[in-house]
Amino acid sequence: MATEFKSMTPKEIVEELDKYIIGQDSAKRSVAVALRNRYRRSLVPEEIRDEITPKNILMMGPTGVGKTEIARRLAKLMDAPFIKIEATKFTEVGYVGRDVESIIRDLMEASMRVTKQKHMDEKYEVAKDIADQKIIEAIIPGKVKTGSGVRNPFSGLMGGGQATYTQTNEKVETPEEDSEVLLARDQVRQQLKDGLLEDQYIEIDVIEQPKDNTLDVNGGGTIQIGNIFGNMMPPKTKKRKVKVSEARKILIEQEAQKLIDMDQVQSEALENCEQNGIVFLDEIDKIANSGNYHGGADVSREGVQRDILPIVEGSVVNTKYGPVKTDHILFIGAGAFSVAKPTDLIPELQGRFPIRVELESLTKEDFKRILLEPHNALTKQHAALMETEGVKVEFTDDAIEEIASMASIMNEQTENIGARRLHTIMEKLFEDVSFNLPDPEITSVKIDADYVRGKFDEVIRKDDIEKYIL
Ligand SMILES: Nc1ncnc2c1ncn2[C@@H]1O[C@H](COP(=O)(O)OP(=O)(O)OP(=O)(O)O)[C@@H](O)[C@H]1O
Ligand SMILES: [Mg+2]
Repeated sequence: MATEFKSMTPKEIVEELDKYIIGQDSAKRSVAVALRNRYRRSLVPEEIRDEITPKNILMMGPTGVGKTEIARRLAKLMDAPFIKIEATKFTEVGYVGRDVESIIRDLMEASMRVTKQKHMDEKYEVAKDIADQKIIEAIIPGKVKTGSGVRNPFSGLMGGGQATYTQTNEKVETPEEDSEVLLARDQVRQQLKDGLLEDQYIEIDVIEQPKDNTLDVNGGGTIQIGNIFGNMMPPKTKKRKVKVSEARKILIEQEAQKLIDMDQVQSEALENCEQNGIVFLDEIDKIANSGNYHGGADVSREGVQRDILPIVEGSVVNTKYGPVKTDHILFIGAGAFSVAKPTDLIPELQGRFPIRVELESLTKEDFKRILLEPHNALTKQHAALMETEGVKVEFTDDAIEEIASMASIMNEQTENIGARRLHTIMEKLFEDVSFNLPDPEITSVKIDADYVRGKFDEVIRKDDIEKYIL
């Protein structure tokens, strides 16, 4: 039952990240290598394996240059358990003393999700067959008493009308299905295959999601009450009327769920969490002591660092699925470190993040590429939005040039907010168009350098740049 590892090579990982993040090569390389090393470690003999602990990474760089974005993309990429959490969460008012072990409990929840999904994926094919059969049975229930006011299930079928077929309670149980019924079901099966019944309404049994009845025990392990009785009682179901297309989705999920062995999922998820788990600790600089201020806040920040330390160093955290050893969980810390420096972290914690990578400030050239290249590039996003109003948007090369240089000038002259500057500029460019659409007169918008300058001339002249761009 060895857990399967995602075995992308470092180059493949970087290639994927390149689709969304411009530049920042050394950060990309470091995370890619760290991830590959987990896979490599899984292949070495067990005696050595336990000795190899992950090399945690600290990503440093100014605001808005892609630190969190790298984490977000990794999360989508990995089928490893992954969570991203803001370190500041533990210093917020009301959260002081919030136990940092919840990080591991959240990671374990993530592990349950990915591990369960992996098991479900293997069952979908079988589940789909069962779902189809259930849909057919909902449309053509067992033999129906005639002459008792129940609608003949065949009426409307041929006309393809919008009649609703319900599983009626008045069906008579017969040891063998009536041949007529079987024949009709065959027809329905064919119609389903041909996609003719997708909008037909049927009634299906939907399993009601059990409420998350958890009981907190000593703030540590929680036990799920649902679990204790869960296996003794059949799940509650509710009848729902839905379209066939919707019913199929619901039934496939439900049937796949029934087919998987949750005990096995749970034990694999525990292993998956311990061996492959990744915690992205964002804003880690915000829990460092900046050195020039001593007071209550500093004390609480240092407290958070001390709380985090055992988890990063390796300890056992109780979760409702069982104890999780944290020794091999990979931690990636990230922060702007503009005020505090890594050396402002307590030494023990610093030592636990041996790999340091610096993200660079973005240049005008980077901005140009960010505007155009990423799969989710801003220009593509805005064009797609306008297209829903029937408007084609075109950006000329000199417009891109102008936006990029405006962004870097504004970053220099006011505050350097990195690529976030591009978001604010783009919003401004589309402000009026967005408001005026839909308009049958407008079918295309060409954005060139003059357009860009025009939009910002008035702003700059008004001398309140910051109001618009921050
Ligand atoms: N190198 C980059 N390539 C493409 N897009 C980027 C890049 N850097 C930043 N962005 C975009 O800018 C926005 C902000 O980036 P991100 O959230 O990663 O900043 P950050 O480095 O985490 O900053 P902070 O220190 O303020 O948290 C995101 O929408 C992101 O997509
Ligand atoms: Mg961030």
